[in-house]
Amino acid sequence: METPWADRFAQRTQRMRASVIRELLKLAEQPDVISFAGGMPAPEVFPVDAVAAAAERVLREHGAQALQYGPTEGYRPLRELIVARAARYGLHITPDHVLITSGSQQALDLLGRIFINPGDHILVEAPTYLGALQSWSAYGAEYVTMPIDEEGMITQALEPALRTGPKFIYVLPNFQNPTGATLREDRRWQLITLADRYGVPIVEDDPYGQLRFEGEHLPAVVVESARLRGAATYRGNVIYLSTFSKILAPGLRLAWVVAPPEVIAKLVQAKQGADLHTATFTQMVATEVAQGDFLDRHVQVIREVYRERRNTMLAAMAEHFPVGVRWTRPEGGLFLWVTLPSRLDAGAVLEQAIAHKVAFVPGAAFFPGAGPANTLRLNFSYAAPEQIREGIARLGHVLRLQLDQPRIMPRAA
Ligand SMILES: Cc1ncc(COP(=O)(O)O)c(C=O)c1O
Repeated sequence: METPWADRFAQRTQRMRASVIRELLKLAEQPDVISFAGGMPAPEVFPVDAVAAAAERVLREHGAQALQYGPTEGYRPLRELIVARAARYGLHITPDHVLITSGSQQALDLLGRIFINPGDHILVEAPTYLGALQSWSAYGAEYVTMPIDEEGMITQALEPALRTGPKFIYVLPNFQNPTGATLREDRRWQLITLADRYGVPIVEDDPYGQLRFEGEHLPAVVVESARLRGAATYRGNVIYLSTFSKILAPGLRLAWVVAPPEVIAKLVQAKQGADLHTATFTQMVATEVAQGDFLDRHVQVIREVYRERRNTMLAAMAEHFPVGVRWTRPEGGLFLWVTLPSRLDAGAVLEQAIAHKVAFVPGAAFFPGAGPANTLRLNFSYAAPEQIREGIARLGHVLRLQLDQPRIMPRAA
């Protein structure tokens, strides 16, 4: 007898769903579609030669070690490199505060494993990073949502939410995915002080912090929190995540967590059950690539490329989008957020956009509950400038078609 697989799936899989949007976006993978949908870096800036040379050196000089199992915590020289880079931003940590993970996505999942009991509430921005919701929902998380505007989480609304006793706060302070918003400095302080007062830890997810191409760098929440405590070495309420995905290459699947040693120890146990450790070879290659000032120079190149793409997208939207459409103007990162006139539905727009060979993600997907139907996320890092101009022109055309459609009036009795 053939196994009826669906009857065998664990209860938690009932919360995992293939969304209609994902199905639609599969169509966006056709080569002639200009996609603003994914979160992919510009492939032109991948340091292919540097990675090839580093891989060659690693294999030649430490081949056996590179192909061997390694410690769950991660390759020590890579953890030391992260410690040294953190010190430049005023965060004083030791390798015992660092765990290397297979992407930040794994870090989010491991945090879910060690912190979330079914029914626990997690305080998230609305909208927020979809991948975190996907991970944590599988562990039975419920969400308390905080509204955000162009300056990040609206912290005035934080206190009543903290009184509901969330397990932790999840915040994306820099060039947030999906809106591009950056948390204002005084709001960072408010977040830290209120979280401290109510004894609620913060998970700061910061894949884009180094990709600022305009304006002043703002200290990370983890840095401000350590400073508040006046500690010479990192202590505090904040678990910090970042990744090599956007400053080197996502295919390496390399990221890191900074957390108090007792949290790292528990994450290590969880990671052992997940994958034993992150690939030794890629950790060694990344360490080799990041030696000297290569990484800093490379990040400069990425910033320049993304600044140009963002500018191209902003200019094209100003030219082609109909009156009544609004958008954010992020100072870094990969995304911006568009608000359509309230009578438009981004799902319907996407359907027509795909027919016109251009794609994006409707904004409602990024809300844990129901989200506004008239919003959408655009990625400006992946498509080249001429494609951005063409894609935005197509999208502008689709928006006009949608606005010209007669509204469906309720039938007279
Ligand atoms: C906010 C946020 N967190 C985590 C991730 C996952 O990144 P990684 O490639 O390191 O798994 C992403 C990827 O886009 C992201 O935007």
